[in-house]
Amino acid sequence: MVENNLSAASIANNLETHFIGQRVIYYPELTSTMDVAKREAQQGAVEGTVVIAGEQTGGRGRIKRAWLSPKGSISLSIILHPAVLYLPSLIMLASLAVIHSIEKVAGLKSQVKWPNDVLINGRKVSGILVESEVRGDKVDYAIIGIGINVNFRVSDFPDISSTATSLSDELGRDVSHLDVIQCLLVEIERLYLTLQAGGSIYEEWRDSLVTLGRRVHVKSGETMYEGVAESVAMDGSLLLRHSDGNLTKIVAGDVTLRD
Ligand code: BTN
Repeated sequence: MVENNLSAASIANNLETHFIGQRVIYYPELTSTMDVAKREAQQGAVEGTVVIAGEQTGGRGRIKRAWLSPKGSISLSIILHPAVLYLPSLIMLASLAVIHSIEKVAGLKSQVKWPNDVLINGRKVSGILVESEVRGDKVDYAIIGIGINVNFRVSDFPDISSTATSLSDELGRDVSHLDVIQCLLVEIERLYLTLQAGGSIYEEWRDSLVTLGRRVHVKSGETMYEGVAESVAMDGSLLLRHSDGNLTKIVAGDVTLRD
């Protein structure tokens, strides 16, 4: 059993970043880190502020879904003040940071299911939620929320046991929360600075997608689409080829892999 003595000080200690995680707000238990991060952002929190919870009682996912965050999971939100141009890249950035951290700390390969689920062997290990407040062409704030199933048995949670996995389930042993969190924060800063320096993360994100080339169903709002996921655009949209040859560009949706 890996000890989980998390605190704001332990996370910030020896953290090799310049601004991401240099201010950490830690709660052993919280409804949702997104709500606290939003409040902090509205009060002018410094860029890179991290809100993290030992467990969440009201974790939120995309499309108003609940997100299960028991003890043993990682639940954190990061406050950023990006230029509006970088907003579509934040999901890509967060997915890549999660994949890199899982590989570095746990030695496990993971992939992205468009737009922002991270899967290991087809099962969801992490979910990402990006929320922002934009006025005109100015971003007041953006919040990246990341949940990772680290050290708990998904078989103890019937709601997710058939679709999810955790790092400890995959490895048969626990993983250090602190190592995953610190690696994640370092990776997020590195990729964010890459973007700001004019570098691209789109190609690596596209190549990490398990979705491309697959037959999929996509639910977008009330509409259900079917086709082959052909590619993704640089703004993160999915390009879906239908059997009649037509192409649909889907900005947001939920994908089911059919083959
Ligand atoms: C999804 O897969 O639908 C996204 C899940 C995002 C969960 C994270 S956990 C930290 C942050 N706080 C929340 O309430 N949600 C995000």
